[in-house]
This record gives sequence, C-alpha cells and structure tokens, in this order.
Amino acid sequence: MIIQLTDTHLLADPRQLFKGINPYDHLARVIEQIRGLAPQLVLVTGDLVHDDSAQGYRNLLGLLQTLPCPVRCLPGNHDAVPLMQSILATDQVNCQSLIEYGDWLCVLLDSSQPGQVGGRLGAERLHDLERVLNNHPGRDVIVAMHHPLLPCGSRWLDQQRVADAAAVWPLLLNAPCRVRAVVSGHIHQEFATEHLGIAVYGTPATAVQFRVHSADYALDDGLPAYRWLRPGPGGRLTSGIVRLNQF
Ligand SMILES: [Fe+2]
Repeated sequence: MIIQLTDTHLLADPRQLFKGINPYDHLARVIEQIRGLAPQLVLVTGDLVHDDSAQGYRNLLGLLQTLPCPVRCLPGNHDAVPLMQSILATDQVNCQSLIEYGDWLCVLLDSSQPGQVGGRLGAERLHDLERVLNNHPGRDVIVAMHHPLLPCGSRWLDQQRVADAAAVWPLLLNAPCRVRAVVSGHIHQEFATEHLGIAVYGTPATAVQFRVHSADYALDDGLPAYRWLRPGPGGRLTSGIVRLNQF
C-alpha cells in the first residue's frame, strides 16, 4: 500500500499553532495511525513547512523517520526548496523524483514557482517529465505533484492550479508507459475524478482543511486525513481517504 500525506504545514516550534490547530500534533497522530497499516511507500506532496525554517524540516524528518518504509517528498508553494532538499536527504526520507513500487513507478514533480502561490511546470520540467516517461515503456505510473491539474470547484483554488496543465496531459496520454493516476495536494480537501482515462486525486491536509466549493478562502473544521493507494496487477488502482475520527 502507498500512503499520500500532504500539506503538513509544520513550524519551527512544534508547540506553535497554525490557523488554530497544532500541525505537528496532527501529523504525529496521522503517522501513528499509518504505522499500523505497514505501508510500503509514503509520498508527501508539498507545503511541508510553513515558516521556511530548517527546524520545521528537521521536525518533519523526525516524524517521517518513524515510518517503516521509504518516504519521498516534493515541494509546494510554501516550501523553501533548497532547505527542504538539504534536510530531507536520508536513504529512507528524501526528495528523489523516481521510486519503484513493485512493477509500478512513482514520478514526483515540482510544480512550485519561486514567490508564487500558483503552480506551473514550465518548459524544462515538462521536458524532464517527457524524458522520464519515455524511459519507462510499459510501466504503470503514478504521477505526484503539489498543485492540481484540474479545477476542484473552488474559484480561489482553481486560479492556483498548474497553469500549463494543457501541456501536461498530452505527455501523460502519449507516453509509452501507462499513467494510471495523478495525485496532488494544495486544495486541502478530497477530490477524485477520472480525466481522459487517468484517475485524478486531491487529498485533504494533515493540517487544516479548506471549505469545499467555496468561491473564496474559507476554512473547514474537517479533521486531519490521508490517502491510501493500492496498485494492483494489470494497471488496476484503488484509492480512498481516511480521516482521523477524533482529535
Ligand atoms: Fe497547503
């Protein structure tokens, strides 16, 4: 089983609150639950640390190191990318962009832009994506990135999705491998659909949630959550959300 965690929004001080909740405690509780599932891979899809602090990334590393499996992390708009890459850099927990899961392959993309809230891959990262997909013919693939490719029905968030998404889909569809799913964070809410034969998933945060279908920024009182993904033979993939039932 693969677990996706997203939007952890940790701070340097693990006792400090973020939008009325303690993001460190939230993540610690989620990880405690996930450990019981014995996952084989954990993907952490951005907005890992909210205050650009090295200590925030060290706090995150300490929690992720308690997991019994490899952990791969990618940045969101709130991350300090060089700092993140320098601290999340162990054999177990790191920011490498490719990892195998049985016959499957997970490709982690950086959709962040310095100083911008919204996502964009840009020509260079699109070219890298095309090269990676071309190098793995026949593979079943999960692509992960922070920003969503599709709108979720919240006007303010939909303006922040990957700006050049129209250039991404042809790469995913025309590759000699079979991209089965795209998983993202950023929207702090559950989203699941299928687009051109590819499953498209958004996932609630481990920190605070955003209100579904809200035109403008609004919080929701939903509890921390995570996504499971179960890749199977023949490219079959099942997935769902688990929300902590109390906090
Ligand atoms: Fe976020």
